[in-house]
Amino acid sequence: MQKVLESLKGKFVEELKNIKDKESLKEFEIVFFGRKAGEFTDLMKKMKDMEPEERKEFGQSANLVKKELLELFAEKEEEIKALQMDKVAEKERIDITQPFLGKKRKGHFHPNTIVQKSLEDLFISMGFVVLDGPEIESEYYNFEGLNIPADHPARDMQDTFYIKDNLNWVMRTHTSPVQVRAMQKYGSPLKMIVPGRCFRNEATDARHEHTFYQLEGMIVDKNINFSHLKGTLEIVARHLYGEETQVRLRPKFYPFVEPGVNGEVSCFLCKGMGCRVCKKTGWLEVFGAGMVHPNVLKAGGIDPNEYQGFAFGFGLYRLVMLKYMIEDVRAFASGDLKFLKQF
Ligand code: PHE
Repeated sequence: MQKVLESLKGKFVEELKNIKDKESLKEFEIVFFGRKAGEFTDLMKKMKDMEPEERKEFGQSANLVKKELLELFAEKEEEIKALQMDKVAEKERIDITQPFLGKKRKGHFHPNTIVQKSLEDLFISMGFVVLDGPEIESEYYNFEGLNIPADHPARDMQDTFYIKDNLNWVMRTHTSPVQVRAMQKYGSPLKMIVPGRCFRNEATDARHEHTFYQLEGMIVDKNINFSHLKGTLEIVARHLYGEETQVRLRPKFYPFVEPGVNGEVSCFLCKGMGCRVCKKTGWLEVFGAGMVHPNVLKAGGIDPNEYQGFAFGFGLYRLVMLKYMIEDVRAFASGDLKFLKQF
């Protein structure tokens, strides 16, 4: 019987050597240790026919051999597991030094930012500085400093967002407050633009938003006259809508300029013939502008007898809508990728 045990061990070791994967190991386990018909199990079953002496002796060595074989088996199991892990690691291996070869997905600017940046570049090229101002503004800079009297409709609770519990502060309704702030800070001569966010209590629809962008511009110096204003607006209009664009100015009242004008550009779509976009007039209203009012210069600490200036302001969204033929202003802040991906 000892011999049978020895040869079974020999067979076990030999066959185990050739096993390279989990499946074969499972089969191998059944062949040797299977409860019903495993070779080792069969051998142990024979014990019950043995004489007590023989059974004791055989049982002892069989147990030793079984222990040995189980150890070998466990070793093999570990070996296969490691082998399999190596395979997974190989599959998932990444070369961190390899450059990215996939399709690159880059973000891009919002259409409003594209136009704003291009206007900033234009003005910087002409020697203007780009300034910033607070979005929550004092009533003084938003209105009084700009010669806007207390009974002006722009101050109406319908139009202006006041800060709760502090009616001296408002969400700025335009970028013009920076006119006075800039004069106080930098004095004259001054050439500046202010792109920025403004707020009005509007009922929103395709053409109105409560939050929108304006771009303000101002020059203060000696011997500044109306032709400087018109020339500057022409440069902006041609930059945006092409060389052949015309600008016309018509009187309009703004408390902070005198004289004040409404700047219109010839419709770039129909070239002034009249179409749906310009409502058959051939002209598009875009700028508010004028010569800086003496009271505003004074508020900025500048002597109106010595210095003059012009100022203009326009809604950036409107320029962008015209440039890209965007029909609904609400698209700008919608975060809708279908809209944004077109630019
Ligand atoms: N601030 C004016 C508005 O919001 C525009 C404007 C700016 C008009 C500068 C004249 C001069 O409508």
